[in-house]
Amino acid sequence: MEALLSSTTTTTLRPSLTPSSTKPPLSLSTFTTTTHKLSKSNKNIRLRVSATSPKPATETAVDTFTVPSEMKGWVYDEYGGVDVLKYSSNVTVPSVNDDQVLVKVVAAALNPVDFKRRLGKFQATDSALPTVPGYDVAGVVVKVGKQVKGLKPGDEVYGDISEKALDGPKQSGSLAEYTAVEEKLLALKPKNLDFVQAASLPLAIETAYEGLERAGFSEGKSILILNGAGGVGSLTIQLAKQVFGASKVAATASTSKLELLKSLGADLAIDYTKEDFEQLPDKYDVVFDAIGQGEKAVKVVKEGGSVVVLTGAVSPPGFRFVVTSTGSTLTKLNPYLESGKVKAVIDPNSPFPIDRVKEAFSYLETGRATGKVVVYPVSEEYILEKLAQ
Ligand SMILES: NC(=O)c1ccc[n+]([C@@H]2O[C@H](COP(=O)([O-])OP(=O)(O)OC[C@H]3O[C@@H](n4cnc5c(N)ncnc54)[C@H](OP(=O)(O)O)[C@@H]3O)[C@@H](O)[C@H]2O)c1
Repeated sequence: MEALLSSTTTTTLRPSLTPSSTKPPLSLSTFTTTTHKLSKSNKNIRLRVSATSPKPATETAVDTFTVPSEMKGWVYDEYGGVDVLKYSSNVTVPSVNDDQVLVKVVAAALNPVDFKRRLGKFQATDSALPTVPGYDVAGVVVKVGKQVKGLKPGDEVYGDISEKALDGPKQSGSLAEYTAVEEKLLALKPKNLDFVQAASLPLAIETAYEGLERAGFSEGKSILILNGAGGVGSLTIQLAKQVFGASKVAATASTSKLELLKSLGADLAIDYTKEDFEQLPDKYDVVFDAIGQGEKAVKVVKEGGSVVVLTGAVSPPGFRFVVTSTGSTLTKLNPYLESGKVKAVIDPNSPFPIDRVKEAFSYLETGRATGKVVVYPVSEEYILEKLAQ
């Protein structure tokens, strides 16, 4: 594959000693995964990158793993609908720059930017084709570049692998067995979250956090979130309430999702199929538009307030921004995730196994997903190892 260099490397890897998730992590049972078929305790998992003779898994064992030059992954070499996606078994494993680590992908999540990019909407600033799509990853570090200081092989990490979502995003994304990522874009996976939950978070939670910060949101302020049930909105509700200390959180969704909004912390859940939020008397310090209703959004903001727009038209005083990936945001939010104050929201149709990525995209592209659509398991060796336990 052009510009994706082939490499064969032997990596010494200590088995992870950190249990990922041994208990049902969430209370939002309808909309989140409480258990995943294969995600029981991963204590003493040996990550078998290729079929080498495994040593016994003991706490002191050091195993040698070989990173192959080719891997399985989803690729497209022309822009278009889901049918341009091909599942290939000879995708080149990306090389690792000095500031990067190679991650064995366990779970990946889909974002609307993945399909918008695949449709060619960002061609002017996109990386060259062919593309392995995928921004969100949760997995295990198997190799580190020379300048990497804080991560080592065996670390369980998560992150959004492309610093700029639209400006030269990675050509070799997370919907493959390996992806190379700058250390600064990753954080250690919260101990209580499994890989599915961790993969669901990075791009969406970083967008929510950056949007709230850019809007100057702070304790005691009120906020209206347009599209509270999607990937970004479901986390924005929680961050506004639990991290920023909102005095009032209102959010929109269709009828069947109003209870979810309330369970996430919304004080007011507005059914957009029955009520027009701009006709309601309330005004807000901040309006967070995660659906493309910027022109209506500015009508319900208080004077001097902010309107953050993620997509679609922007009217003054609204502003739009594109998320910048940074692992430090995830590290900052890890305590809230570990305490359970902020929870991953996984669409009930998730996770989709790696061979059903087209189906996963078709579903996301309906615009009806609740929380995040996750792909898991991604790496077969990892699954076999888990099943053997
Ligand atoms: N600028 C950035 O950096 C940035 C970052 C992330 C995302 N985005 C963009 O932000 C948008 C949201 O992303 P996302 O990942 O949250 O999307 P998503 O998860 O695909 O959103 C799906 C949700 O949208 C809801 N929805 C549909 N029509 C609605 C309406 N009229 N009012 C309220 N909710 C409605 C659906 O709920 P119902 O089934 O109830 O309708 C569904 O639960 C996308 O356009 C994405 O590209 C931008």
